[in-house]
Amino acid sequence: MPNRVRTAVFPVAGLGTRFLPATKAMPKEMLTVVDRPLIQYAVDEAREAGIEHFVFVTGRNKGVIEDHFDRQFELEQTLEARGRTEALAELQKDLPSAGQSSFTRQQEPLGLGHAVWCARELVGNQPFALLLPDMVFRARPGVLKQMMQTYEETGGNIIGVEEVDPKDVSSYGIVARGEGPDSGFRITGMVEKPRTEDAPSNLFISGRYILQPEIFALLSEQTRGAGGEIQLTDAMQILIRQQDFTGVKYHGKVFDCGSKLGFLAANVIFALDRPDLAEPFRRAISDAVLGVSDGM
Ligand code: UTP
Repeated sequence: MPNRVRTAVFPVAGLGTRFLPATKAMPKEMLTVVDRPLIQYAVDEAREAGIEHFVFVTGRNKGVIEDHFDRQFELEQTLEARGRTEALAELQKDLPSAGQSSFTRQQEPLGLGHAVWCARELVGNQPFALLLPDMVFRARPGVLKQMMQTYEETGGNIIGVEEVDPKDVSSYGIVARGEGPDSGFRITGMVEKPRTEDAPSNLFISGRYILQPEIFALLSEQTRGAGGEIQLTDAMQILIRQQDFTGVKYHGKVFDCGSKLGFLAANVIFALDRPDLAEPFRRAISDAVLGVSDGM
């Protein structure tokens, strides 16, 4: 039996430059898909997968994320006084229990690899899950849970992957696929943002990982790679020479909510998934579209 994965790391210290001006004063991870912040989707997914310790790597301007995972007594009292018991229960359900969350700061946004490295003392010498909160998934069960099922059989390092149009591979980290089924195949290599003609596959790394703690030592040796940032993929490329990496082509679809298009698409799809919103939303959209095409 591999060591149980109890801890998840959420890097939330990036600047979100693709989403300016929305992210000038507000963290990208607090943007909402329908009525839940991106970070809440990631935390929910981690809990569903059995995670018990939530480590947030934050930065300046990100204090509101800490507040989001705390109680808000004034609000709770008001909801109670107004008899809004359902809304109150919903709020309380979203919170990790006391003592389950830890926060550390990445003082400078030196890249994803550096953000993960900042969590080393809080994670310690155990495997951990890594969830990039701007990647939101439509998946049942959640993607991390699907990966955890594979991990229980294989141990080692696990990466969630999804297919992308081959002409778009140069925007992503891409894995080379070895033997094994979609639910767990050997990863034989990985490359960050390859040209279409150099890409070993069209399977991209979509923001969910289970990693062994040896990654931290490799990250500490990293110099800045592509874009002047310390890259996680560079460290994984070294670790793969020493440890197994397994790919999980999960059931589901990712929305890159750090990009405007992905964010807008996620809002439409998740609203249409909501029983309380689907019908009126569909009507509102079609009325609006008809209105626009009528020149209104
Ligand atoms: P991104 O590269 O999507 O985030 O990182 P970014 O740098 O904030 O966004 P753009 O590209 O400028 O628009 C994915 C995740 O890693 C975190 C981000 O907060 C995001 O959740 N991250 C990124 C850090 O925590 N620190 C960093 O230095 C970089």
